[in-house]
Amino acid sequence: MDKIKITGGVPLRGTIQISGAKNAALPLMAASLLTEDTLALSNMPYLADIVTMANLLAQHGVALNMQGDGKKTGRILSLCAADVNNLTAPYELVRTMRASVLVLGPLLARFGAGKVSLPGGCAIGTRPIDLHLKALEQMGAHIELRDGYIHAEVAGRLRGANIQFEKISVGATENILMAASLAEGVTTIGNAAREPEVCDLAHCLQMMGAKIEGIGTDTITVTGVERLHGGNYAVIANRIETGTFAAAAAITGGDVELIGARIELMQAVVEKFAEAGVAISETPRGLRVRCVDGPIHGIDIMTQAYPGFPTDMQAQMMALLSVAQGASMITETIFENRYMHVPELTRMGAKINVHGASAMVRGAPELRGAEVMATDLRASVSLVIAALAAQGETIIHRVYHLDRGYERLEEKLSGCGALIERITARAPLTLATSEAA
Ligand code: EPZ
Repeated sequence: MDKIKITGGVPLRGTIQISGAKNAALPLMAASLLTEDTLALSNMPYLADIVTMANLLAQHGVALNMQGDGKKTGRILSLCAADVNNLTAPYELVRTMRASVLVLGPLLARFGAGKVSLPGGCAIGTRPIDLHLKALEQMGAHIELRDGYIHAEVAGRLRGANIQFEKISVGATENILMAASLAEGVTTIGNAAREPEVCDLAHCLQMMGAKIEGIGTDTITVTGVERLHGGNYAVIANRIETGTFAAAAAITGGDVELIGARIELMQAVVEKFAEAGVAISETPRGLRVRCVDGPIHGIDIMTQAYPGFPTDMQAQMMALLSVAQGASMITETIFENRYMHVPELTRMGAKINVHGASAMVRGAPELRGAEVMATDLRASVSLVIAALAAQGETIIHRVYHLDRGYERLEEKLSGCGALIERITARAPLTLATSEAA
């Protein structure tokens, strides 16, 4: 497995191109199942999770074509679900990426059936999908859980329903948005998620002919139509990647311009950075990030559903605050186990105590490089952020977690002066090789 080696202490200076948002691209790809026409998605990021979703859709029978190398303008991915010939999403794909469950709503809506592996848990929590299934049953689907699979079918078309989510769920809102677009009648989604990635999906569905009102509010109304058509749609900028690189610039005392970043997608994050002493300002091409008035100071953060502070930025901010002046209290309210980065940051000299859902972070004068292990996507990148400021050399193991959500990370950071390189693990010695040696 690949590792990443970082030698800390270099202030980041220069520009970084922000990619399209992974968490928008994944549901947008699933939406291609809703029409027999071609859906062309531009500004596509190129990440492990995107490849997994592409492989999942391809085994359903979706034709895919990726154009462009993405180094400059992002890529264009064309998807055509005219010849879907398999309604099963298999365990070996679903277990590697939970977002695979987003094919369930579209399969039911267009084909009246779907067999999708239950995703199982992951490092940050049990991640149930009960809200998705209960809402689809309200729309007329018959759902049975058997042999680790969701067996779903509906006689005729799904029917519009009044859905009131007891908890805000990004994925459940997205699955029902897609299902309701082709259902018979009107669906209202109460306590809907309002994340920019959910809005991006809703806007793309509107472009495809869906009738949706209330986008960006907690109550969305969808009037089902007979069919949707294809078209072109650009994936929004990745607000979490933007926040991640902002933390990297801040912790190294650098000055970085994030090209393509959009401040309106991340007000809560910008406010917290400002509170900690990091200035984020708009430029004609995106956002500029730099430290003003000396060192970072400690702040309190509570993660919440959008427009609150995003849980996907919690680990990155913890790394930054671990070298702040003063203490910070971080409270994670979305996932039950999203502190896997704490023991690893502690090995680098961070002073963090976790009490249930809260973590007390006492600013340390400095961090020191160490060998550390990535455990999940955002925990991994928090170790990169810490390593960029740490004295000496850090080796991060299991970086496949990083590759799921960050495109060309080493290239983007080394382009701003970071001393970072990927160490590709040699193929393990085999008997034949050792005989030859
Ligand atoms: C999406 O996951 C994102 N993933 C996550 O990003 C993000 O952390 C999360 O939303 C919250 O913003 C993608 O968009 C691909 P949820 P999702 O349903 O949809 C509970 C990353 O790092 N819940 O909003 O799975 C759930 O357990 C990833 O990029 C139920 O109880 O999240 C959690 O506690 C990590 N029942 C809370 O709701 C359900 O049926 C929010 O989950 C569904 C969710």
